[in-house]
Amino acid sequence: MKRLHSAPPTLRSTNHLRSSTAIRCASAVAALWAAIGAGCSSNDAFPQASPNGGSAVGGGSSAGASAGNNGIPGGGSTSSGGSPLVGSAGSAGSAGVASGNGGAHDAGTGGTAGTGGTGGTPDGSAGTGGGAAGSSGSAGASSGGGGGTPATAGLGPPMGWASWNTFAAKINHAVIKAQADAMVASGLKAAGYQYVNIDEGWWQGTRDASGNITVDAAEWPGGMAAIADYIHGLGLKAGIYTDAGKDGCGYYFPTGRPAAPGSGSEGHYEQDFLAFSKWGFDFVKVDWCGGDKEGLDAPTAYGAIADAIKKAIAQTGRPLALSVCNWGKQSPWSWAPAISTMWRTSYDIIYYGESADMNRVLANFDTALHPSAQSPGHYNDPDMLIVGMPSFSGAQNRTHLALWAIAGAPLLAGNNLATMNDETKSVLTNPEVIAINQDPLAKQGIKVADSGGRQVYSRELSGTRRRAVLLLNRGSSSASITVRFADIGVGNQAAVRNVWTATDLGTQTTSYAATVAAGDSVLLLVTGA
Ligand code: GLA
Repeated sequence: MKRLHSAPPTLRSTNHLRSSTAIRCASAVAALWAAIGAGCSSNDAFPQASPNGGSAVGGGSSAGASAGNNGIPGGGSTSSGGSPLVGSAGSAGSAGVASGNGGAHDAGTGGTAGTGGTGGTPDGSAGTGGGAAGSSGSAGASSGGGGGTPATAGLGPPMGWASWNTFAAKINHAVIKAQADAMVASGLKAAGYQYVNIDEGWWQGTRDASGNITVDAAEWPGGMAAIADYIHGLGLKAGIYTDAGKDGCGYYFPTGRPAAPGSGSEGHYEQDFLAFSKWGFDFVKVDWCGGDKEGLDAPTAYGAIADAIKKAIAQTGRPLALSVCNWGKQSPWSWAPAISTMWRTSYDIIYYGESADMNRVLANFDTALHPSAQSPGHYNDPDMLIVGMPSFSGAQNRTHLALWAIAGAPLLAGNNLATMNDETKSVLTNPEVIAINQDPLAKQGIKVADSGGRQVYSRELSGTRRRAVLLLNRGSSSASITVRFADIGVGNQAAVRNVWTATDLGTQTTSYAATVAAGDSVLLLVTGA
């Protein structure tokens, strides 16, 4: 009975959830997770190529490209990111992208609007290809202010899709291929999404006599290298998944397949991470079910995993980003930034069999706020998105994405990309919201006001006195919420823009107030005059 949220009815009725009603599952899973310490996570330093590719909302200037390496901006040359702030239509971000070859802390030669690109490696070895952005950029849209290109492949929080929230363990080559195709066809790739992450279910814990991982050839024709190749062929990046312990989550909480003993990498770290890299994977999420059950020390285990990844990268020359997934146990924000690209800060946003729940979104947002841990290339991870999952309204989808944008959180969509409706697509691809999320300063928003759950969050953006501001109403009735400019450091006068409606609201003095429906939010871009 495993977690994972709102699994589709077909999955829900399968055997994983022995306790199969959603409610039973939800509470049972929560208890189990609590007992076992469930978790998941991402990986290690992995430079997503060019850092600032596009620019921030409003067209930030200066998007300097720098090479990606280990999370440390390499300094590449700059380019002029998007267009000027208000008013003009963002000229498609001439995103400065590093060209890649920047070694570790040095620069990429950047500036050319590239596509794709892998950025440097954690240990500083070369990245290939430059960064991204360029093209699809033009977030600028109509009324200006939204200029710039979403920084697709910079050191911004990873963007992509992961299989878990919709498919649980019921994945195979065909499922992943269809989602990768949909990422392109739906416009998500053009908006900056690039990872196609295979979560649990690809491996049932089998190995050959030499300890090499083996998979079911009928489900994965050509092995895992074939699906990574397919993903790369679309100009996307590929992610894979394992556990830090001996047995993975699929052993303790089967969700669509029989319990899989041995489905963790403990005892095989170097062998497995080298295999992932040789197969072509660019990202690996390392879960914590076995690690937690065995009582492993998380900093030690993930440190060993990061070392194994470095060795793999040294051998293959391919960057491999680490996503630490130990659910916030042992305060990963205090040790994971040094070894990973992102680290989970809480339990799952949705468990297998559950419906999407806004309370979980808010709780995961709250527990992910560790501003001092975050920097370009290193992100607190409140979990994969449930935007567009069954039962979520348009307003909930917008608030969810706005929260992840304010937090600078990884944007890993979890809905079914092949069947999503236009509203979900437009939420996930909103260029101004993505630009906030990907802002090169990588800051997290902080709460600057709170009156009985009527809250104001402010996130510092690149540029001069630019802030993303979220007016969030956690109450049960509509309310007016005010952002006081003194609280966000933009001076006395500021231009205010409603991001979701793409409406400039003029220059305001001292403060700005909006009516916010119960449970809803208003996302603003505020620029000091
Ligand atoms: C844990 C993780 C989830 C997902 C599942 C897979 O619950 O936190 O994100 O990876 O395992 O079983």
